[in-house]
Amino acid sequence: MSSQAEKSEQESTEYPPLEKIPVHVGIIMDGNGRWARERGLPRLAGHRAGVENLRRVLRAAVEFGIQVLTLYAFSTENWGRPEEEVRGLLNLMERAIDRELPELHREGVQIRHIGRLERVPERLKQKILHALDLTKDNQRLILNVAFNYGGRAEIVDAVRRIIEDGVLPNEVDEALISRYLYTAGLPDPDLIIRTSGEMRVSNFLIWQGAYAEYYVTPTYWPDFDKDELYKALVAFSRRERRFGLLPG
Ligand code: IPE
Ligand code: IPE
Ligand code: MG
Repeated sequence: MSSQAEKSEQESTEYPPLEKIPVHVGIIMDGNGRWARERGLPRLAGHRAGVENLRRVLRAAVEFGIQVLTLYAFSTENWGRPEEEVRGLLNLMERAIDRELPELHREGVQIRHIGRLERVPERLKQKILHALDLTKDNQRLILNVAFNYGGRAEIVDAVRRIIEDGVLPNEVDEALISRYLYTAGLPDPDLIIRTSGEMRVSNFLIWQGAYAEYYVTPTYWPDFDKDELYKALVAFSRRERRFGLLPG
């Protein structure tokens, strides 16, 4: 057997193909602080480890056939953390773009942003806008980065624009609201994963996740690897989605 064939043989036994793969997966990347604390490290070391973990999860997501990945990187509420941590997180975001953008582009990743850009420092904002523009025609994976994102802020922004556009009351329906959200044009998430064991939504995709399947793992984000993603996909493939109807 050629080494290529051996390799794919090994992969297929390690990760047997799944019946159902979610099109859109959202991840609440939580637990960086606790990961660091357990190692006697500062919280920022946990965030750094979290950023380093992105690469392997992205690669695994592409391998498993996920088409849209939305990552919760910074919430509208996270501004309330100590200034040093916020500054550290903004710096990490900037460095991650500098370091990873060329390869993400080469690999065909289309980067999108959901959230508010107003409060984001100018230099970082420009880097984000550049990343969006550079990768806008890529098709292999849509990587949606929720940065300065809040589900409630998103709905507020949508309502403001709906009113600005002079939409009439009887023209407002669910499809229209979806078109005014940051995620306009993307399918709703099928699966939302939260790392580090917390059983809450924390303002993530509250409209779009109305019928998402939730999966929580106690694993902290920096330790969430390909095996962990596969486990989440296995759990998803066993779920029966009903959307309010009777079992089929
Ligand atoms: C998630 O890790 C990253 C962000 C919220 C930016 P946390 O920083 O929330 O880690 P814990 O929850 O304190 O462990
Ligand atoms: C949610 O995690 C936000 C991100 C992962 C970016 P948090 O750690 O901020 O959420 P809470 O405070 O535990 O709800
Ligand atoms: Mg947290």
